[in-house]
Amino acid sequence: MNPRRPTPPGPQPGPFDQARAPPLSSYLSLYWDFKLLNRVHRVIFLLVFSLMYKFISQNEYLVLHPRPVYLIVSRSSNGRLNVMAASWVTPVSDEPFLVAISVWKGSLTYQYIKETREFTVNIPSERHVNVVFKAGSMSGRDIDKLTILGLKTTPSRAINTPGLEDMLGFLECKVTKEVDLNESTLFIAEVQAIHVREDLYTKYGWDLSKTRILLHHSGRGFTTTSRLILAER
Ligand SMILES: Cc1cc2nc3c(=O)[nH]c(=O)nc-3n(C[C@H](O)[C@H](O)[C@H](O)COP(=O)(O)O)c2cc1C
Repeated sequence: MNPRRPTPPGPQPGPFDQARAPPLSSYLSLYWDFKLLNRVHRVIFLLVFSLMYKFISQNEYLVLHPRPVYLIVSRSSNGRLNVMAASWVTPVSDEPFLVAISVWKGSLTYQYIKETREFTVNIPSERHVNVVFKAGSMSGRDIDKLTILGLKTTPSRAINTPGLEDMLGFLECKVTKEVDLNESTLFIAEVQAIHVREDLYTKYGWDLSKTRILLHHSGRGFTTTSRLILAER
């Protein structure tokens, strides 16, 4: 009780009355107010939240794009070569350096990688946008893509599948593991050798003031890296 507040008329409180807890009904009303407030807050939160976001299908993988896109060269057991575009390619370990690539089982690339268990990951720049799109929208089952796209090969050091001339660089990869993903297979491969354009690669990676890495956005849409942004120390 507030000692400065005037005592209400009526019987004066005795020593026991002062110590007594407030009646149960006042607790209940406090609880009720709190619940109401909570509910109002919740409605406001949901309202603001629904204005900021919308739900989309859980299969909408484009939320993780743009992604760097590469040209994968593969070789059949009888030495035929093929090239396809792939953006679901990622480093997964640095010692040993492993890359993972998800390949659709219906592609010729899948068949060739299964046969020889090797491939090269070629790094295009923005100049190669048309070649990349075509390599990703036609199958080597129907045409000789390397010839049609005017792509020339350059020998690898550690594997029999070559890289492509005129790219920023390429990685020689040997498959060490496969993960079956129903429609696709995730090939995990150990990098055997890396080739880079000397004038474009520094000890910090690609010189973004001199070249632009190609990224796939969606469909025919691509984008590139722009400037380097340095975070604070
Ligand atoms: C930008 C782009 C990225 C692609 N990324 C992948 C990929 O990561 N994995 C995949 O299996 N297919 C990918 N594709 C589709 C294949 O490139 C496409 O199925 C190709 O025609 C397969 O060729 P192939 O049958 O000659 O091997 C991509 C296509 C484009 C245009």
